[in-house]
Amino acid sequence: MSKSTVVQASSSVPATAVTPYRRSLPLLGDTLGFLARADRYLMETHQRHGNVVNVSLFGRRWTMLFGADANQFVYQNRGEQFTTAIWEFFFGPFFRRGLLMLDFDEHRLHRSIMAGAFRKEALERYLPLVHERIHAELGAWPGGDAVVAYPLLKRMTLNVGSEVFLGEPPSPQAARVNHALIDMVRAPTGLVRKPLPGTRWRAGAAGRRVMEAYFRELLPRKRAQADGDDLFAQLCRARGEQGEPLSDDDIINHVILILMAAHDTATSTLATLLYQLARYPEWQERLRAQALAGDARPDYAALQGMQELNWVMHECMRLCPPLPIDPRGVHKSCEFEGHRLQVGQGVLLSPWVSHRLPAHWREPDTFDPERFAPDRAEQRSHPFAFVPFGGGAHKCIGMLFGEMEIKAAMHQLLRRFRWSLLDGYRMETSFLSIPIPKDGLPLDISAL
Ligand code: HEM
Repeated sequence: MSKSTVVQASSSVPATAVTPYRRSLPLLGDTLGFLARADRYLMETHQRHGNVVNVSLFGRRWTMLFGADANQFVYQNRGEQFTTAIWEFFFGPFFRRGLLMLDFDEHRLHRSIMAGAFRKEALERYLPLVHERIHAELGAWPGGDAVVAYPLLKRMTLNVGSEVFLGEPPSPQAARVNHALIDMVRAPTGLVRKPLPGTRWRAGAAGRRVMEAYFRELLPRKRAQADGDDLFAQLCRARGEQGEPLSDDDIINHVILILMAAHDTATSTLATLLYQLARYPEWQERLRAQALAGDARPDYAALQGMQELNWVMHECMRLCPPLPIDPRGVHKSCEFEGHRLQVGQGVLLSPWVSHRLPAHWREPDTFDPERFAPDRAEQRSHPFAFVPFGGGAHKCIGMLFGEMEIKAAMHQLLRRFRWSLLDGYRMETSFLSIPIPKDGLPLDISAL
């Protein structure tokens, strides 16, 4: 933490600074500007107003806290000043009581019970299924001009999810669950937040019912399985320190959130990887040479050892973190850099901005994977400068799984295909939910 930062977690310390307010439209605030170009909005807000600024977004006021020190203060959450329950503001009731929305002791307990399903030994057991599913998905990819890549990536991560997390190979039933999930994720992006006929909200509520019914039906079989390797079966067997199991409702809530948290984030990152490797064919060839030199289905240790693929993946997550902003609610009033944060207030961190601050990153707008090489290691300039997976107690529990899946997919993609951009193409990003290519990312793809 820099010396100039005054971080106080106590309400007894008087706040000294007047927080600037970014002027915006009445009622609408800056929402339209944010949705149109969140990248520009975030950078400009930080440049104009500094590390702490009040803004009006998504129909409410927020205090934006920029920079690695702010990330550290909020993510470490030493005095339990911040709650994640505010995520429900974005997700609505569709992902209620998932791990991300639990706080403090309850969160610690559930996270410790779930941890086994995300450890290295569990990942090693998932990996053959991940490889197999990716292989089958890529076998169905068309080659040719202007292949729209994003929907193919999305189908791949959804199907990996249902196979590895639920133990369900692709089937009409699994497709129904995937469809329900898509409806639930889309629901909060609609303008109407009530289940009126024809609204996304209503489709999301129906999706939640489909999911719950499906998991409730599956539960007795999963609970009875002594040795199922899928994540659902593992959560059924998981026990806390005192031997306590998760209740049926808890398991259902956790699995639903995991399905959501796992697939869009990985799909967004894979899309960035395909795009950047098409922009920088020298990197694509460099990675391809290594992929072709390795096994067709590398084991966990071999994937971990793919250093350059790691740099490229992290550079893509730096430039386009799947969560460009990360919300918290103030649970106990406190102060950051002299600015008072009141109970109930919404706070937004911005990984997007943190990943572009020249204090930590040399030429931050340049695609330069070697910044992650051991001799430069720019991500180490501050423990909270690079936060694509968040930090502190809620740091992504699926980080190792996500990285494993992304690397396994890239390994096979590089071995099977070469891809390039259409003439003059530049990817535009939609920020309606997490960053995705507006036009689905058309690419020229040829089989090797
Ligand atoms: C590129 C891939 C991924 C990225 C960038 C990512 C990002 C994140 C971030 C930023 C958070 C913290 C949110 C916050 O603190 O507000 C988070 C939490 C979480 N992620 Fe991921 N995630 C990824 C993949 C996955 C996968 C594959 C899974 C499951 C297999 C997963 C499950 C979760 C869960 C359950 C949480 C909540 C953790 C908690 O509250 O303790 N994520 N993720």
